[in-house]
Amino acid sequence: MIDQVSALIREAAAEVVLPMFQHLSSADVSEKAPGEVVTVADQRTEEVLGAGLTALLPGSVVVGEEGVAADPALLDRLGGTDPVWLVDPIDGTANYAAGRTPFAIMVALVRDGTAVAGWIHDPVADSLTVAEAGSGAYVDGVRMRISADPPPPGGLRGPIMTRFFPPGVREAFRERARVLGEVLPGLHCAGREYADLVAGVQHFAVFWRTLPWDHVAGSFLVREAGGMACRLDGRPYEATSGGSGLVAAASEPIWHEVREVLRAAGV
Ligand code: IPD
Ligand code: CA
Ligand code: CA
Repeated sequence: MIDQVSALIREAAAEVVLPMFQHLSSADVSEKAPGEVVTVADQRTEEVLGAGLTALLPGSVVVGEEGVAADPALLDRLGGTDPVWLVDPIDGTANYAAGRTPFAIMVALVRDGTAVAGWIHDPVADSLTVAEAGSGAYVDGVRMRISADPPPPGGLRGPIMTRFFPPGVREAFRERARVLGEVLPGLHCAGREYADLVAGVQHFAVFWRTLPWDHVAGSFLVREAGGMACRLDGRPYEATSGGSGLVAAASEPIWHEVREVLRAAGV
């Protein structure tokens, strides 16, 4: 299954995402909500992936970002009994539409509300981060174990996406978070943040808005690599674990360190 889905994702990247990258006309880009762009490539990629994924697993359903935008009731399928393919056809659309990297294709397979497999693909680098439940996470075939080397105190590195933070907390948290080490502004591509965590390039990532297609695959991949991805109350992040706020970290101690800083800022 891992290889079949990987091949499908690569096909969608080669047939739709890459040919349209830096070749979009203004008619190919629209706003689905204020400040949220979508392109014809997002929609076409979701169609291509959706058809391939449901053919791979009869009885499964696709819950994709663009499908939910057209029909919000589709989200209810996440809590159902049929296996669900959760699809973010292009993550980092703002970058993609502006002709910039990074952007990613993300897919998760969810059974009974829990992720059991995940894929993040960087089409430009042709890099794939994948995992199946219990098998560990792999980047381009190489097994990742991110919790193995704990960094020294104050030596952490990671992004804090404050865009959707409650306004009163945003600045307090940014200020206090400096004790962690190098705090990054984020790359406008959640998939890339998760792939960088799994690859050991960074140690944590903090998100406030937690839409399932943005976070289920990445959270699952981080856990399979030995890290932790939980709600602020410590519940593992899953497609159906409602609420705001999510901390992904390379290890449990790092998760608690970041959580403590959030607490001190009033979250
Ligand atoms: C967005 C990106 C971004 C995150 C936003 C998402 P999209 O996804 O992942 O990093 O901060 O919350 O909406 O819309 O480009 O698929
Ligand atoms: Ca996204
Ligand atoms: Ca998207």
